[in-house]
Amino acid sequence: MRVLHLAAEVFPLVKTGGLADVVAALPPALAEQGADVRLLLPGHPAVLDGVKHARPVATLGPAFGSARSTLLLGRMPKTDVPVYVIDSPYHFRRDGGPYQAPDGSEWPDNLQRYAYLGWIAAHLAFGELDDKWTPELVHAHDWHAAMACAYLAAHPPTSAASVFTVHNLAYQGVFPHDDARLLGLPARFMQPAGLEFHGQICFMKAGLKFADRVSTVSPTYAQEIATPEFGAGLDGVIRGRVGEVSGILNGIDDAVWNPATDSALAARYKADTLAGKALCKSALQLEARLAQRPEAPVLTVVSRLSSQKGLDLVLAVLPELLRHGAQVVVQGTGDPALESAFAIAANANPGAVALHVGYDESRAHRLIAGADMILVPSRFEPCGLTQLYGLRYGTVPVVRRVGGLADTVTDGETGFAFGEATPFALQAGLERAMAAFADAPRWYAMMQAGMAQNLGWAGPARQYMALYEEACRARRESPRQAPSL
Ligand code: ADP
Ligand code: GLC
Repeated sequence: MRVLHLAAEVFPLVKTGGLADVVAALPPALAEQGADVRLLLPGHPAVLDGVKHARPVATLGPAFGSARSTLLLGRMPKTDVPVYVIDSPYHFRRDGGPYQAPDGSEWPDNLQRYAYLGWIAAHLAFGELDDKWTPELVHAHDWHAAMACAYLAAHPPTSAASVFTVHNLAYQGVFPHDDARLLGLPARFMQPAGLEFHGQICFMKAGLKFADRVSTVSPTYAQEIATPEFGAGLDGVIRGRVGEVSGILNGIDDAVWNPATDSALAARYKADTLAGKALCKSALQLEARLAQRPEAPVLTVVSRLSSQKGLDLVLAVLPELLRHGAQVVVQGTGDPALESAFAIAANANPGAVALHVGYDESRAHRLIAGADMILVPSRFEPCGLTQLYGLRYGTVPVVRRVGGLADTVTDGETGFAFGEATPFALQAGLERAMAAFADAPRWYAMMQAGMAQNLGWAGPARQYMALYEEACRARRESPRQAPSL
């Protein structure tokens, strides 16, 4: 089956979170299952620089505010997955992030930028842009790619099926209703049965309404988003797709996250030769200026600093953790209030609390390898990857029992899971974790159990292949139509 994945970010070229890791690792895993997979990416500068052997396949005229752009076809670095890149200088060749300008504000033309991404995917599926390759299925990731599903459903609908994956329902791509005219879709799409959302337009709804199948990144989150607590206002739309929303857990990329081969580490190790992990811990204590105390439990956080991640709870229990003799090392960027609260804690507790504000991939590997535990106390978590990396690296996760965290960490066996998003509940979970840490044979058994867990992409890729078959069948039998007037 010919499958086109589209997304705003991909590791190692452009990454703001776990989406990039998934978009890098899932296509090669699908190729192993026999799919003919290609990617479609916006031509951010790092993408134009990083994609190999790029050559033009189509030249495009004025669209979505740009006068001219070129569709390139090249190969991803390392994996060699074929990748289409939209080289639209006006839209994408800028300094800054994929969604935000350097000052942290959203790009004011995100509507045109990401509508264009979806529009190109649909026109590839119409067979208009590359006569040598036409996808049979379009797989769109998160709101940035969701408009592909609306363009595929627009007139005339194509035969290509679509799957939309929700990586995070909290980021929805909501724009003023007046800007709907920039989308080039019939007005009937702009009603509540389409993209309209409380007087505005919502790109996420294009995926939720018009994809032949909707998936998200864990079975528990698939259930949660049908409830008002986790639905971010879209739970009614999710409930409207009963039987058509599924949860497939993310895997981890063994080529990138493997303690036996990881070149970022001071030493490499495996489940049966853990001496290297002790060296990684000592190297981390040195690098982060923590006291060289091999017996101290080292806890790490590697995270976007956003309210989703529940890190205010970590701040609340910090004094108690320090009383237990723990060391805490945090790496993240985001909410300035959280950044400064952790900075104050680090200044007040030299040698015991360390903070690195910023995004640093290889340092993230060293934190995860060198720590004894990784904390992920999220308020909600569609899947979560850092707890998976923790499991793989023998770094026991302490997580809130929510979303993908609930599906991947077995309380008392591979990690610790607590219930409420309160400091009290986190502290109770941490006390159990500290007691286990003090019991060396028990701790060793937990590390081994986590490291033995099968976290690869082969299983998830097989599930996606089955979902693609289902989406294609649904497309043939009852294609999703644009709402009628
Ligand atoms: P989310 O996508 O919600 O941010 P995930 O756990 O799915 O959460 O993925 C986060 C990814 O981003 C992981 O690969 C993690 O290692 C990485 N990451 C987050 N913050 C940082 C940081 N400050 N430096 C390096 N990597 C980070
Ligand atoms: C989102 C979610 C995270 C998930 C990631 C990749 O960013 O917040 O839980 O792991 O996407 O699917």
